[in-house]
Amino acid sequence: MMNADLIKEVDRIVDLYGGRITGSIGMLQDIQSRYSYLPREALIHVAERLDVPLSQVFSLATFYKAFSLRPRGKHLIVVCMGTACHVRGATRLVDEIGRKLDIKPGETTEDNLFTLEAVNCLGACALGPLMVIDGEYYGNMAPKKVESVLGKYSES
Ligand code: FES
Repeated sequence: MMNADLIKEVDRIVDLYGGRITGSIGMLQDIQSRYSYLPREALIHVAERLDVPLSQVFSLATFYKAFSLRPRGKHLIVVCMGTACHVRGATRLVDEIGRKLDIKPGETTEDNLFTLEAVNCLGACALGPLMVIDGEYYGNMAPKKVESVLGKYSES
């Protein structure tokens, strides 16, 4: 059974791009920002509306790192594991975050508050080790600072 509200919203987004295949990345971006991930029913409906195989929409959705096929937590923590950040201790940083939240990269906390993602170079190597939460940059991030930074996001 499909969720009628979701279908209506996807229709609105597809129409914004004139229902054309050339707008498909924009559509997925809009769906992602609306739901914080790409629900499977949404992708099925996009494929139907564009009259393309579902596999084509799925391959777009999995090709771009910015897209997520799984629900994400309220706050997205991205830790850079690129070379520059790695030599400055990114592994210890990601381990500390994982310990504090009891999750591994790619996972979401049980209370849906945080999702942790490890990525390659974010293009701000001078700031390494680098952690980004909801688009806000935390440079020279030491493991011992993790608790106080996360605390800012934990309050309801
Ligand atoms: S390696 Fe981390 S920002 Fe470049």
